[in-house]
Amino acid sequence: MTINPVFTDATPLSAVSSEEQFRDDVLVGLTAAQKFIPAKYFYDEVGSDLFEAITRQPEYYPTRTEIGILDESGADIASLLPPRANLVEFGSGSTVKVRRLLVHLTDLAAYVPVDVSESFLRSEAETLSRDFPRLSIQPVAADFTRPFTLPDGLSNSAVAGFFPGSTIGNFEPPQAAHLLAHFGRVLGRGASLVVGVDLVKDKSALDAAYDDAAGVTARFNINLLHRINRELGADFDPSAFAHRAYFAPEASRIEMHLVSLRAQQVSLAGRRFSFSEGETIHTENSYKYTVDGFRDLASQAGWNVAKSWTDGERLFSVHALTRG
Ligand code: SAH
Ligand code: AVI
Repeated sequence: MTINPVFTDATPLSAVSSEEQFRDDVLVGLTAAQKFIPAKYFYDEVGSDLFEAITRQPEYYPTRTEIGILDESGADIASLLPPRANLVEFGSGSTVKVRRLLVHLTDLAAYVPVDVSESFLRSEAETLSRDFPRLSIQPVAADFTRPFTLPDGLSNSAVAGFFPGSTIGNFEPPQAAHLLAHFGRVLGRGASLVVGVDLVKDKSALDAAYDDAAGVTARFNINLLHRINRELGADFDPSAFAHRAYFAPEASRIEMHLVSLRAQQVSLAGRRFSFSEGETIHTENSYKYTVDGFRDLASQAGWNVAKSWTDGERLFSVHALTRG
């Protein structure tokens, strides 16, 4: 059996963060000198819909560019995956990209989308099963950074991973290397992994991609405060915070923040947090790599880089990784 959950402390299949975990993470973040909230909490049902709306904004080039690479090179990419594989997608979201691979992977044993956004995951899996009625689809609601088990009953054939969208960029490089190594353990021996990675480019294009004119990314960012109010009973006034996103070239990352528009206090779980005017909550990093920089990171994490693809303007890259 090559399916290899690896982790002996098997967690339940539905291993998304509990309310207590969410509350504790927010309390830790709001207590730090630079306040922060982990980016995975963007993705409740509203946040997932807002992310999909971001991908349709003219300034947000990554989604259409990666789809272009998959449309052009999908057959080549699919040919590097093992035959009759089980395909696990980490942070599957709308599954719009995997469809570009599925058309070339007609002998796939099973498709396993993994996502923290549970109701979005279930409805996307249903839509996909209508379009690919013969495909075995086995969704797993889990935080992919933590130990989780793959579904029982996957076939004995090899497991391949798909991690598109440059979600890898939402982790600090050392954590990104750990995550790639963790995926290697989840997928088991002989695994392949296809990863989509956004590339460094002109600051003005990057700034615009994370601050679209229609204000959709701003709504995505501010939804985090609505979510904390809704689920944890906090009393944030979301209208008293503004979206700020900018490329920081020295760190090669977009930073996203929520800026307090005035001095204010917020209550959460019996505690009060003070904000001065202009103080920020750091809500996301989105690291941008060079092709070689990402290939080095993947090597550090124990993967061999079989092949890399980019679009003609070198805006975005896709990498096929393998390991023994
Ligand atoms: N893969 C899609 C979606 C990218 S958005 C695309 O390329 O367009 C990032 C996705 O990862 C969201 O669906 C979000 O819910 C999910 N996600 C973010 N952090 C996660 C985590 N720690 N564990 C599981 N899913 C996560
Ligand atoms: C999911 N992730 C790769 C997106 C990104 O580009 O970093 C999330 C996002 N944040 C703002 N816009 C999009």
